[in-house]
Amino acid sequence: MFHRYSVSLLLLALFFQLSLTDAGLRNKPRYTEEERMAEYVRRGYKFPIEHFNPNTEGWNRLMNQRVSQLMSNPEMQERWDGWIQTLSSAITVPNYTEFGWGLTHAPAQLTEDITQAIHEGLPTARTEGKIDVITGPNVPLFIDRPDLTNRVQRELQPILEAWSGVPLTAYTAYGFRLYRNESRLWMHVDKTRTHVISCIYHIASSENAEPWPVVIEDYHGNTNSVVLKPGDILLYESAKNFHGRPTKFIGDWYTSVFVHFYPTEGWLVKDRDIESHYAIPPQWREQVDSPFPDLRWVGTSATEPDCPDSWCHLINAKEWEGPGEYGMVMTGGGKKYSLGLSDGPPTEATDDDNL
Ligand SMILES: *[C@@H]1O[C@H](CO)[C@@H](O)[C@H](O)[C@H]1NC(C)=O
Ligand SMILES: *[C@@H]1O[C@H](CO)[C@@H](O)[C@H](O)[C@H]1NC(C)=O
Repeated sequence: MFHRYSVSLLLLALFFQLSLTDAGLRNKPRYTEEERMAEYVRRGYKFPIEHFNPNTEGWNRLMNQRVSQLMSNPEMQERWDGWIQTLSSAITVPNYTEFGWGLTHAPAQLTEDITQAIHEGLPTARTEGKIDVITGPNVPLFIDRPDLTNRVQRELQPILEAWSGVPLTAYTAYGFRLYRNESRLWMHVDKTRTHVISCIYHIASSENAEPWPVVIEDYHGNTNSVVLKPGDILLYESAKNFHGRPTKFIGDWYTSVFVHFYPTEGWLVKDRDIESHYAIPPQWREQVDSPFPDLRWVGTSATEPDCPDSWCHLINAKEWEGPGEYGMVMTGGGKKYSLGLSDGPPTEATDDDNL
């Protein structure tokens, strides 16, 4: 018995040794651990982490907790995946706003037109297929209306540019997804390359739908739980703030569209994903005890299985509720400000929507 155990330990050690120079870990590193460490040192990264981004007390506390939880994870692959997600959030992706999220409202005509299209499309909606971060027995439905998603992208772009303060390039307007009964969306951050300044635009839900909050962290270390009303838009820095819908959706359907932008100037020049690889400290291989609850990683999403709804900070989340207001943003601390949009809301579709 003992002998077999040591042999497998040896094989395991050999596997991990190989995996860092080759393709053993998913997320294939294209470098050896020595090369990676040279980049770590060259960039001046330190452990414990000295400088979070932004460097507020609350964000430091939250991210230091996540680091501690990461280090106690028993699975090497999960630690590796978790480090990349955590460092993107904590350091390598810059922030564009004070809190990283805000609640506003879409032009009324746009919501009205999409709501009508949703009700017309419901009987023939297709299934979307399996999405990694979504769990539950019922896969989402999908209504394809590229004419409307293009219009969403065009009409919302000025709102997201006003909010983030930078010119944006649209990557995608993805919809219309209809979540179904018992769905959950685990906490995660989005792809650093293209999903930077984003929004969730909530259109409508079935009459029997219960409120289903978006949960999102902010740069002062708070966890926020935001219930969107039809027409509400949750603005968020999606590669940076962990977000999800970890509570169970109850009802027939709930539909949103997701719009993702990245800053036009200079963004694509730098690969933040590889930067997160370089920022992982040499200690990542060792498992160290943590005083915090277990944090597990399923691919790129995070769960805390010992807490209700698999997310411990839900217990002290700050609760917010729409409706938001067109042209205004409500954010952390209940702070409200104007986006300073130059035009009023568009009242009807422009000609090219019908192309
Ligand atoms: C980033 O977040 C910090 C903390 O909220 C804030 O002081 C700073 O202004 C933010 N940066 C930008 C560009 O908004
Ligand atoms: C949704 O699922 C719950 C169990 O989680 C069940 O009690 C309820 O009847 C279902 N509702 C609908 C609308 O299917």
